[in-house]
Amino acid sequence: MSTIPAWWAGNGLRAEPSGLHFDGRSLRALATEHGTPLYVYSLAKVRRRVDELRAAFASRGVPFRLYYAMKANRFRPVLQTIRDCGDVGIDACSPRELELARELGFGPGEISVTASMLSNRDLDFFASAGASLNLDSLSAIRRFGERVPRGTAIGLRLDCAVDIGYGSHPKLAYGNTKFGFAHDAFEAAVEAAAAAGLVVETLHVHCGWGIQRGALHKLEWVMEKMAAFARRLPSVSTVNLGGGLGARRRAGDDPVMPEEWADAAARHLGPLGLTIACEPGTLLVDAAGVLLVEVNTVEEKSGTVWIGVDAGHNVNLYAAHYGLPIEIAHVDRPLAAIAGPASVAGNINESNDIFARDLPLPVVAEGDLLAFLPAGAYGSSMASDHCLRGPVREVAL
Ligand SMILES: Cc1ncc(COP(=O)(O)O)c(C=O)c1O
Repeated sequence: MSTIPAWWAGNGLRAEPSGLHFDGRSLRALATEHGTPLYVYSLAKVRRRVDELRAAFASRGVPFRLYYAMKANRFRPVLQTIRDCGDVGIDACSPRELELARELGFGPGEISVTASMLSNRDLDFFASAGASLNLDSLSAIRRFGERVPRGTAIGLRLDCAVDIGYGSHPKLAYGNTKFGFAHDAFEAAVEAAAAAGLVVETLHVHCGWGIQRGALHKLEWVMEKMAAFARRLPSVSTVNLGGGLGARRRAGDDPVMPEEWADAAARHLGPLGLTIACEPGTLLVDAAGVLLVEVNTVEEKSGTVWIGVDAGHNVNLYAAHYGLPIEIAHVDRPLAAIAGPASVAGNINESNDIFARDLPLPVVAEGDLLAFLPAGAYGSSMASDHCLRGPVREVAL
């Protein structure tokens, strides 16, 4: 019997009597070499994910442009892997992300910026960098227009107007939030762009994180809306569908797959002859990463077995911030039988710093290693130095 979640079996994770292996490497050996907490990434998997997405769109014969949302994971070897793909650009959301993309050799035509609540300082930087911006406020349109030559191309980010993120979680669904122009504000945005001397070449939408198959019909509705807006504006040559794919946190999850996404996009937008762009983060890197932590405390308190580990929400924010589950596997004894429920807590002085409550786990002892899965997206990139617990370690295979 294995305590590795079944859906991870085909993911490069192997349970052996000697312990858990990822992409053929012993996770215990990696932790011993680099210390914990440690993010471990499979670069081969990142490449495979890019190939799958590219192939999905290529087989539908629609012009396609892929940008990687670097906010998901900006570990250098991951970014270099994306760079080495050759035809993948970067979706940046801040001046420093853009700078980092440039450092890696991405040129202006390979970087798309989608950011919100931009300061004049931000806009000065983006204007001088010649960045392609997707803007989502009249204020940003006006102020960007003051900084760039007339005729500069921009994108308009639209509000998808539906709750479509993982379980319609308010932190993960972007309809009717601070992002984008509401549908009835489209005209005003187009007029503001014209008044500012800007040309709208891109329409952009990002619906949320973790879109599941059950919401595919809503996603198609959004695509149809985007097609309708594009028809109204002859200057539009690209529709950017954002990200939101590929999130799988537990066995029952059923994320929209690249094939289905490409298929829907080709049906709704293909006939317009536009370039279909997207900027996924999670889809490309999430399942390519695991987080290794060391157990420092095993103790029963008021009927709950608490397992304390050497990482907290400063290292991985998913559970504390979004309330999202994370799978936990025993690195040293992945084949051990389940012993009973235990709660896994982090080492940060916050009561919500808990990774899992009453999770069925095998016997866990102090000094053991646990693997948190998946951890490739928004793990290290959202890490903080709260409680001065220090920076996280990362290693690429
Ligand atoms: C504008 C935009 N594009 C793309 C992404 C990437 O999303 P995901 O990681 O769900 O693919 C995000 C994530 O927040 C985003 O805000």
